[in-house]
Amino acid sequence: MKELILVLTGAGISAESGVPTFRGEGGLWKQFKPEELATPQAFFKNPKLVWEWYDWRRQIISKAEPNEAHLLLAELERRLENFFIITQNVDGLHQKAGSKKVIELHGNIWRVKCTNCKEEYELYEVPLKEIPPKCKYCGGLLRPAVVWFGESLPEKALSESFALAKNCKLFLVIGTSGVVYPAGYLPFLAKQHGAKIVEINPESTPISKIADVVIREKASKGLRLFEKML
Ligand code: OAD
Repeated sequence: MKELILVLTGAGISAESGVPTFRGEGGLWKQFKPEELATPQAFFKNPKLVWEWYDWRRQIISKAEPNEAHLLLAELERRLENFFIITQNVDGLHQKAGSKKVIELHGNIWRVKCTNCKEEYELYEVPLKEIPPKCKYCGGLLRPAVVWFGESLPEKALSESFALAKNCKLFLVIGTSGVVYPAGYLPFLAKQHGAKIVEINPESTPISKIADVVIREKASKGLRLFEKML
């Protein structure tokens, strides 16, 4: 078995596809308040407002194509057999680029969950005809199947991510501010267990200080440089 290579991605990897990041220049959290849009309390207070925001983001993402960085990661997966991506992104662009071994830590914007009967399914309608949308099984109020602030991460995705972080030889961190936990903890866990850490990010992050190699570039150029180092 080849040595395990693990990749953690954040919003920055989709920036070159035209999907806005959360923090930094042009970040969504500069314009919007997370406590009004990305918590269960906000949703139950005003599901229409929260769904309008998600519908707007779904429209942006529906027009986005994977960029060179997503495509290079998909190619690396095909070439190096022991290769996994853990993503905090909900946009599905890794899968659209052809990556198969992708763990979604924060859910997926194309999935919905019924607050009444708890069924979860894919809903690709863009824009939504009815806001808030209703469950196709029971007519209950649907919510996006994403992780909001104050909520736990999907258990299986989290336990798999921890196990992979503990066992990888190389941990590549791309386009994440690293400030949201537990995702932000994974590089530290990997480092404690002896992995080499490579960061690709045009800006400094809390992960930079433990990185063995820092590539201060956008994701696509950074990954081209990384490939040459392999
Ligand atoms: P952030 O928006 O916090 O951070 C984006 C990172 O990408 C920053 O460090 C930027 O410097 C970097 N960046 C910007 N453009 C880039 C490019 N072209 N190439 C590479 N890097 C670039 O996004 P995340 O770290 O993903 O969670 O945010 C983590 C979580 O916070 C999100 O999943 C979301 C958010 O609130 C929830 O909604 C639960």
